[in-house]
Amino acid sequence: MRAIQLAAFGLDHLQQVDLPAPRPGPNEVLVRIEAASLNFRDWMLVDGQLYRGVSLPIVPVSDGAGTVLEVGAAVTRFKPGDRVTTFYKSRWIAGAMRPEWEGAEIGGPEPGVMRELACFDQYSLARAPAHLSSVQAATLPIAALTAWQVLETAHITTGQSVLLLGTGGVSLFALQFARLRGARAIVLSSSDDKLERAKALGADVGINYAKYPQWGALVREASGGAGVDAVVETVGAATLAQSLEAVRMHGFIGVLGWLGGMEATLPLAKVVLRRVRLQGISVASLEEHERMVAAIEATGLAPVIDRVYGFGQLREAFERLTAGGHFGKLAVDFSA
Ligand SMILES: NC(=O)c1ccc[n+]([C@@H]2O[C@H](COP(=O)([O-])OP(=O)(O)OC[C@H]3O[C@@H](n4cnc5c(N)ncnc54)[C@H](OP(=O)(O)O)[C@@H]3O)[C@@H](O)[C@H]2O)c1
Repeated sequence: MRAIQLAAFGLDHLQQVDLPAPRPGPNEVLVRIEAASLNFRDWMLVDGQLYRGVSLPIVPVSDGAGTVLEVGAAVTRFKPGDRVTTFYKSRWIAGAMRPEWEGAEIGGPEPGVMRELACFDQYSLARAPAHLSSVQAATLPIAALTAWQVLETAHITTGQSVLLLGTGGVSLFALQFARLRGARAIVLSSSDDKLERAKALGADVGINYAKYPQWGALVREASGGAGVDAVVETVGAATLAQSLEAVRMHGFIGVLGWLGGMEATLPLAKVVLRRVRLQGISVASLEEHERMVAAIEATGLAPVIDRVYGFGQLREAFERLTAGGHFGKLAVDFSA
């Protein structure tokens, strides 16, 4: 079967190889993988920035979707013909995360999805929403679940407001989920064109952060003066101070990304006097993922996909991801 392996760190070392077809163990499910999608962590793996015991060569990319071909004798969750996605934090089934489950991640250190056939533990897979194609479903596991979890943890509800930083995968899912919850969405982007596209998706306000680097005050103004109820903080060090300016008293900042750096300096007086809740978010449990899938199915939500690449075009997909021109998710269609 065709697979892509990373033989050494760096884009030049992604190579197509022929691997033997795997056989499922008693608790495993054999999946024909039909599509994948990229997340920033996939780039960190390829670039050698992902720590935690990655050994080479490795099949990269965490998120995929496909069809169940065969199940092991002890598998109860799936049957042949079921359409599934991977579930990236492959030990976190329900409740709170435990430290001993932290390293169990598909796409490094565990093998990823860029292979036509793969066996997964039955709890490392989730049912794909019935109305989505495999390419669409492959965009869900990391980006959608993270966006879902921020709004869920912040208890965002009708009439509240949410700030989204940029128009990447997580932010656009957060925009769609904010709309599902009846919340107002304020979106930042470096591109006026992308802001118009975000408004077409339901954003109430768009602010160009490249033109207005001190956007915190503009966000407060746009939210009626009090500040937003929640911020989906995908950027980190470069934006946390402005996010604190933008959030309301007793508001919530879901800190989940570091596109703008990992070491932040915080105006603590704002954190304290505004009684802000700063909450780290790192995806969520399988139980939460299944709740998200039910909501996506009930509402017919369709992920925003920027471009779809062929199996042999993973390098081009990574180049677009790192160039930052995308709007929403980048996907790989194994049949193309
Ligand atoms: N904790 C978790 O569980 C988790 C899960 C998923 C992702 N993440 C992290 O979250 C971050 C975002 O992931 P993603 O998949 O959404 O990435 P992405 O799709 O690559 O998003 C990139 C977008 O972020 C925007 N951006 C970059 N710098 C910005 C800045 N200074 N201010 C405002 N927006 C800025 C840009 O939007 P414009 O082009 O519109 O300007 C850019 O296109 C990454 O750090 C990723 O590792 C964490």
